[in-house]
Amino acid sequence: MKKQKNQRIHIFDTTLRDGEQCPGASMNLREKLEVARQLARLKVDIIEAGFPVISDGDFEAVHTISSQIKGSRIAGLARCVSRDIDAAAEAVKPAGKRGRIHVFLATSKIHREHKLGKAEDEIVRLAVKGVTRAKGHVDDVEFSPEDGSRTEPDFLIRVCQAAVGAGATTVNIPDTVGFAVPDEFGALIGQLYESVREFQTGKAIISVHCHNDLGLAVANSLSAVRNGARQVECTVNGIGERAGNASLEEIVMALDTRKDFYTGFDCRVNSKEIVKSSKLVSRMSGLVVQRSKAIVGENAFAHSSGIHQDGILKKRETYEIMDPCDVGWGQTELPLTKHSGRAAVTARLKHLGFKMTDDDVTAIFSQFKAIGDKKKFVYDEDLIALIEGHITEVPETWSLEYLNVTSGNQTVPTATVRLKKASAKSKKKKSEEAIQDASLGDGPVDAALKAIDRLTKTRGRVKDYVIRAVSEGKDALGEVTVKADFGGGELVTGKGACTDIIEASARAYLNAVNRHLFSGKKDNRKRVRQP
Ligand code: KIV
Ligand code: ZN
Repeated sequence: MKKQKNQRIHIFDTTLRDGEQCPGASMNLREKLEVARQLARLKVDIIEAGFPVISDGDFEAVHTISSQIKGSRIAGLARCVSRDIDAAAEAVKPAGKRGRIHVFLATSKIHREHKLGKAEDEIVRLAVKGVTRAKGHVDDVEFSPEDGSRTEPDFLIRVCQAAVGAGATTVNIPDTVGFAVPDEFGALIGQLYESVREFQTGKAIISVHCHNDLGLAVANSLSAVRNGARQVECTVNGIGERAGNASLEEIVMALDTRKDFYTGFDCRVNSKEIVKSSKLVSRMSGLVVQRSKAIVGENAFAHSSGIHQDGILKKRETYEIMDPCDVGWGQTELPLTKHSGRAAVTARLKHLGFKMTDDDVTAIFSQFKAIGDKKKFVYDEDLIALIEGHITEVPETWSLEYLNVTSGNQTVPTATVRLKKASAKSKKKKSEEAIQDASLGDGPVDAALKAIDRLTKTRGRVKDYVIRAVSEGKDALGEVTVKADFGGGELVTGKGACTDIIEASARAYLNAVNRHLFSGKKDNRKRVRQP
């Protein structure tokens, strides 16, 4: 393959679109905005903010991110259907020249015959029609032949030529089902590069979008880069459909750490923001990062063997291929205490990168004071848990007023719970009624959650429950994330943090109940099936 002059690698982050398609990972608007802000600080080139036609919530998220986030380009996804394309155009409009429409259409034989029931010529016609319509709205149009890696290469080339001819400036080759292997995928990208003149002249670039079903998403993406791809689609922590997408941090750090091999490539992500991004996405999506995950796992730079520790002390590079500081580990500030005032807390919130109104600060400051009374030090992680609790909040149909739990190794666990229900008596006057009930359970958490079910008349089935200490020390805040199914098959995530882990569990479950009730009212249901 001829060496390309253009060595610029564009990082296209799809955490808020493909990442959010992960069951139970859905985020509310405020959560998406915080993630988008962090992605902009990370300096990703493109943020795919959602699939606007799919729901009112997705539309609003793409529209708000387009108006508030500066720096990165903002993309909205659309099928090759006028309604989708027009919705995406409307949603990215506030981004002006930075707005991108990403249209996709399946091209593989299996999708053509079994999913779409369309012949090759019809697929080409629809792709051209879709790109042309998108081009009528914005200059920056991306086209994806879905299941590209399993499409017959000659047909793939034909579709790509047609899409570029219609004005697509990026052609993305998805390995939709994670079937590709690095040598073969790299060769396919090389063949495409050689076959479409516009890729050689720089009028359009090749992108790749790899799923991780065989654990090869990053390897496939890197092989594609060596063979001519100049955009990589990925997600923070590798979250996404099924086994996830290529992980952003692994792509970026492989290109950086092995620049001796990936010579001359220019990737502009600010790697120092990686750990912060990982933690934020993990908390906002409720998807815990595996301890041994490359780059961002808690153990990624932990050396336990004596031989390794000795080597590191003598020369770090003996056992470390990256400096943990380069990805943002170890940047902790002095903890706050109960004596810290509002100005100190406000300054720390700003330093942590959160955009807070005066009302937000007032709410967080009062919770900060309550924690400060219980704990000697309030660490950044504690503060972040409070902020996240605040921004994940939904209208509190039910709020916890009282919780009393009896448990022990010789006792039947019992929980008494009093909840307040907010009800709009008249438009002007809201009233709150308190009701109380008790329940036995297989443990204190089970008892508390069962009592909540009785009071709220919901019956959530807890599918996942994770508890973790937010910061160090025996007095650390316990943060609980629950994913519950309230009957619709969709997982609803709830979060709660408290120094008492039973209370944190009850608060997390109640947060899920409130989210479930709120989404029912708001009719934020998905309008079309996701790709
Ligand atoms: O995996 C896939 O094929 C996709 C496309 C919509 C790009 O997510
Ligand atoms: Zn995908």
